[in-house]
Amino acid sequence: MKFFADTAEIDEIKELAETGLLDGVTTNPSLIAKSGRDIKEVTAEICKITDGPVSAETVATDAEGMIAEGRELAKIADNITIKVPLTWDGIKACKVLSGEGRMVNVTLCFSPNQAILAAKAGATFISPFIGRLDDINLDGMDLIADIRTIYDNYGFETQILAASIRSVNHIADAARIGADVITAPPAVIKKMVDHPLTDKGLSAFLADWKKTGQSIL
Ligand code: G3P
Repeated sequence: MKFFADTAEIDEIKELAETGLLDGVTTNPSLIAKSGRDIKEVTAEICKITDGPVSAETVATDAEGMIAEGRELAKIADNITIKVPLTWDGIKACKVLSGEGRMVNVTLCFSPNQAILAAKAGATFISPFIGRLDDINLDGMDLIADIRTIYDNYGFETQILAASIRSVNHIADAARIGADVITAPPAVIKKMVDHPLTDKGLSAFLADWKKTGQSIL
């Protein structure tokens, strides 16, 4: 399973990259707005931190506009993935941009049918939003499972990028189903290490070790 950081905060991305666990980054217009940075400037900085795919999202609503913006964003670095929304125009733009050999992430996916369209349009990644489905009392994980089944039925190579991840349980559940990638805020990824029995066990080991009076180094 690949880990992408869902953020445009440079410090957070650097911290995760230093662990060697970071496989890529996803951004969106809301995350860029939150960073307060210029999209091209901050995206270029992110592309220097990781060699993995860095999603930069188009904001045009027509296919021509998305294609033009996508080509422009792709000039930032070789590892740019152009992110387009799951609309009819987004699907048309995906087909053109993927046909040019560019990585495309089709975002705002909320149904299996949308995921089929993205795969047929040559998307590198499909981004189903788990948390936002949970927010309206639907099960986001059912969508991940449906897409996994459908893609496997037809051998679609589009990678399932589980997005809108809000908790560590989302990560384990997406892994169980076989999502290829999760994108999550770095704080959620860091929480994966937490377990009270680990803390308790470590305290006991250290207390016992102290009694031995030994040192390893
Ligand atoms: O990158 C898109 C996605 O991960 C957004 O998450 O928490 O705003 O629904 P959220």
